[in-house]
Amino acid sequence: MDRIRIVGGAKLNGTIPISGAKNAALPLMIAALLTEDTLILDNVPRLADVAQLQRILGNHGVDIMSAGKRSGDHQYQGQTLHISAKNIIDTTAPYELVSKMRASFWVIAPLLARMHEAKVSLPGGCAIGTRPVDLLIMALEKLGATIAIDGGYVVASAPGGLRGAEIEFPKVTVSGTHVALMAATLAKGTTIIHNAACEPEITDVADCLIKMGAKISGAGTPRIVIEGVDQLHGARHTVLPDRIEAGTYAMAVAMTGGDVQLSGARPELLQSALDVLTEAGATITVNNEGIRVARNGAGINPVTVTTAPFPGFPTDLQAQLMALMTCAKGVSHITETIFENRFMHVQELARFGARIQLDGETATIDGVAKLRGAPVMATDLRASVSLVIAALAAEGETMVNRIYHLDRGFERLEDKLSACGATIERISG
Ligand code: EPZ
Repeated sequence: MDRIRIVGGAKLNGTIPISGAKNAALPLMIAALLTEDTLILDNVPRLADVAQLQRILGNHGVDIMSAGKRSGDHQYQGQTLHISAKNIIDTTAPYELVSKMRASFWVIAPLLARMHEAKVSLPGGCAIGTRPVDLLIMALEKLGATIAIDGGYVVASAPGGLRGAEIEFPKVTVSGTHVALMAATLAKGTTIIHNAACEPEITDVADCLIKMGAKISGAGTPRIVIEGVDQLHGARHTVLPDRIEAGTYAMAVAMTGGDVQLSGARPELLQSALDVLTEAGATITVNNEGIRVARNGAGINPVTVTTAPFPGFPTDLQAQLMALMTCAKGVSHITETIFENRFMHVQELARFGARIQLDGETATIDGVAKLRGAPVMATDLRASVSLVIAALAAEGETMVNRIYHLDRGFERLEDKLSACGATIERISG
């Protein structure tokens, strides 16, 4: 199994190109199931989760052509996928595939909307909490689907097609909003989603669906209105930049010190994180290229932060912020409100000498002057990258094990960091 070796201490200086967003690319690929025509997606990141979803879609009969690099392409430019769901040969998504990636459960929405039936394995447990799908099922039932749970599968049918409905989510859910939005595009009549998630990835998917002929208004607000259409057609869409990747590298620069241009990053997608970084002592400048992050001389200030749905501070940057706060000049408090168990990084950060106390959903971090490298591993993507951030600033060598989690969500992480002066290498086998 691959590992990453990091020798800490170097400041980061240079340019990091920001890739397409994983959490937009995945639902966009799934949305291709809604049409017989080809959906072309540009700027798709080269990630293990994208490859896994290609396999899952292939199982339904979807053909995916990945365009090679064209001359003049920047080496970090994402891939272009031509996705054709002309013939859906199977409406079942089996346990072996869905259990490897939760988001693949979302295929239930387009399959049900277009084929009027779907049988999708329940995704099962997850390292960051229980993560149920009850609200996704509630939304599909509101749209007229009959749903049964049988042998670990959600068996859904809507023989006459889905019907528009009012869907009120009792809590903000990204997955619930994606599923309701996709399903409603082909339902008869009008659907109104109340308390919809406002995450930029929802807006990106809605923009693509509109290009495909869907009638959607209000995406990016808590009230989305969808006027169902008979069918959708092909389109071409560019995946928006990854705000979590941008925020992660911004935290890394704040941690090590230095000056890095995050090219292609869009500040409006991560304003809350940029505000926290400014409070922590980083200098953030927005320019034509993206976002520039610097910290020179001054130490890291402690902060108090609570995660929240967009535009609040994202749960997907909570672990990275905690890594940064391990070296703050004082005591920080970080409260996680989205996932009840997203603290696996706490015990691993302690291996670097960090002082963190957990009390329910709040972590109290007492900053130390220096971290020391250690062998570490983590069981989820963002927790893993928080260990990389700690290692970049730690004295001596760190070995990050089980890095397949990093490969799920960070494209060429070690190349991007070593180009900015970090001592980081992948050790295969
Ligand atoms: C998405 O997960 C992201 N995944 C997550 O990114 C992200 O952390 C999360 O949104 C929150 O921003 C993708 O986009 C692929 P939710 P999702 O539905 O959609 C509860 C990463 O590292 N809930 O908004 O699964 C749920 O348990 C990841 O890239 C129900 O109770 O998140 C959680 O507490 C991990 N019932 C809360 O809602 C349901 O039916 C928010 O979950 C659905 C969700």
